[in-house]
Amino acid sequence: MSRIARELLTWYRQNKRSLPWRDHPDPYAVWVSEIMLQQTRVETVIPYFERWLVKFPTVVALAVANELDVLKLWEGLGYYSRARNLHMAAKVVVAEYGGEIPQTVASLQKLPGIGRYTAAAVASMAFGRDAAALDGNIRRVYSRIFNVDEPLGSTQAEKIFWDLAEIHLPYGDAGDYNQALMDLGAMVCTPRSPRCEECPISQHCEAYQLDLQEFRPVPKIKKAVPHHIQAAAVIVEKGRVLLAQRPSKGLLGGMWEFPNGRIDGDPAEELAGVIYAGYKLKVESVDLLGEVHHAYTHFKVTEYIFRCELIQLSEQKNLRWVGLDELNDYPMGKIDRQIAKNLN
Ligand code: ADE
Repeated sequence: MSRIARELLTWYRQNKRSLPWRDHPDPYAVWVSEIMLQQTRVETVIPYFERWLVKFPTVVALAVANELDVLKLWEGLGYYSRARNLHMAAKVVVAEYGGEIPQTVASLQKLPGIGRYTAAAVASMAFGRDAAALDGNIRRVYSRIFNVDEPLGSTQAEKIFWDLAEIHLPYGDAGDYNQALMDLGAMVCTPRSPRCEECPISQHCEAYQLDLQEFRPVPKIKKAVPHHIQAAAVIVEKGRVLLAQRPSKGLLGGMWEFPNGRIDGDPAEELAGVIYAGYKLKVESVDLLGEVHHAYTHFKVTEYIFRCELIQLSEQKNLRWVGLDELNDYPMGKIDRQIAKNLN
């Protein structure tokens, strides 16, 4: 076993965070936690994870659940394709594996929503397989220990990180080792102001020896983030409001929204045109209710919210009149939930 691995394992066994999915006897729980933890902080995930296991305690319970309930429980976690993929994967596990989650990296990776990292994390933590995992925290730790000066996301850096992860993986202890790196990254080897005095492996850390820890990892070369302007129509009649369900694939797939569209110029002037183009609804704006801002990973949105009068309904099947007191039952993204809250 490499010295780094041995010292990290000793540190982990004394300092590991107590997390509800950790040392969990059920591979399903480990899998759910790993999907929730993709792009999402541990503190945010914990209450969602606990609610999830109450509502969908087994892979079979999830497989037979209805999609609306699945999305509803995910609401607020973001990246909703994760919920749809997890749901789909549960159906595959039941149909093709008799309800037993497959144990190898290769078979896990064939399930929807499971990439190289998640497959390795689940295989190592839930099944004791010798699989090296790399997430953002682990990349940061390796970039400092080995003073990697290639930018994050580059082909060169990826090859270096995966090679390091394979070389240092302690056979028989991969699950703990992967989590030791995650905890070190979260608690000690933090993105800013790392606590090198508390680090169990600082004497092996090349960046620390050169006082370069604040400059590692070398950041990804960034593209400008686009800013989209949108307008949404709030159409209320007789205590009900008109909602639309988004297509099942893509951003916020299957979730509900107030009819809206992208605007290039004056939102008040363009609103009726974009609502007709998107939903074949004829509307007239009555007044501006407010604006909502939201940042997605790859773009930012400012949405102007207009109360509208309906001039003519359309035949589109994804539209539904929903009672103002039922809005909470419909899964929505952050922007639409904020609009809905302001209607009650
Ligand atoms: N992030 C993703 N998986 C994790 C785990 N098992 N422990 C801590 N942080 C994590």
